[in-house]
Amino acid sequence: MRISFCCTGTPSEPWIAALRSALPQAQVELWAENAPQADYAVVWAPPQRFFDEQSGLKAIFNIGAGVDGLMKLRLPPHAALVRLEDAGMAVQMAEYVSQAVLRHFREFDVYADQAASGQWLQRRAQRHADFPVGVLGLGVLGARVAQTLTQFGFPVHGWSRTAKVLEGVRGYAGADQLQDFLGATRILVCLLPLTDETQGILNHARLSLLLPGGYVINVARGAHLVDQDLIALLDSGHLAGATLDVFRTEPLPAEHVFWKHPKIQVTPHISARTLRLESVAQIVGKIMALQRGEAVAGLVNRQQGY
Ligand code: NAP
Ligand code: GLV
Repeated sequence: MRISFCCTGTPSEPWIAALRSALPQAQVELWAENAPQADYAVVWAPPQRFFDEQSGLKAIFNIGAGVDGLMKLRLPPHAALVRLEDAGMAVQMAEYVSQAVLRHFREFDVYADQAASGQWLQRRAQRHADFPVGVLGLGVLGARVAQTLTQFGFPVHGWSRTAKVLEGVRGYAGADQLQDFLGATRILVCLLPLTDETQGILNHARLSLLLPGGYVINVARGAHLVDQDLIALLDSGHLAGATLDVFRTEPLPAEHVFWKHPKIQVTPHISARTLRLESVAQIVGKIMALQRGEAVAGLVNRQQGY
């Protein structure tokens, strides 16, 4: 069995070493042009040439949860496309979103500013009931985030394509229920995959539906958000702030208004990192299952785009 590794922006040696150690019977190689045909590929942002040459792949393993980058390429039509499912990302996402929600709800930025000027001033306590959280996308990551937030006592809503039942989370499904979901939400978390349907979903019309004093946390993809619409709603006062981990152009350009906007917190796409050992264990388990002719979870539906 031959495995080709082709991950742009990822140090290849430790990944290849981990794959070789977990699958000693396989030949695991860093892809180079005109390499022999592989059975499986482990990829992140590969060039089109990789797939043009490796047309006989049985399965393609993406070392991330989101496959929007791959969906822009011409992939071998019969290869299974498999994404990471959790692999240590769900707890990181729950940590990240919880800190953003709690920092806003408990006004920690206000207290940091007060401390900077030596001010001792206790503000009025806020009520969880006044800060309903809505999570767009109730998949592997969104479900974990939504359920974590229920533990703090926030009312939590979730929106997905198909109806979901999650304890403590009020579910909304499909385009018909998006308006009601947004109207019941004050803190909005985006954990949707980027597809033709979800591109630009965080626009002026939809963000205007949030309860007054709305707050936006985008941890999915930059192209979900219409940047200038967020700025307009922050500047008009309808939105109170935003925490953004993902951007239309990454790294976020030095001149981008998000860097210095007083109501926006920026992080460099770190809300849920790919963890090498957890990811290799998951991928190797699935390769062994495919070799035995078994079905695997995490298959991407190419029509839906996620
Ligand atoms: P997932 O398990 O595939 O979940 C996607 C969720 O979105 C599902 O609940 C799905 O509904 C819903 N959805 C998709 N299209 C929809 C539509 N048109 N209308 C309503 N709901 C829709 O994905 P995941 O593993 O949770 O990951 C989500 C995204 O997080 C990834 O695609 C990636 O972009 C992003 N991400 C970011 C980072 C980071 O570090 N910033 C790290 C990892 C992932 P159904 O359940 O009904 O199918
Ligand atoms: C990271 O953004 C991922 O999709 O895993």
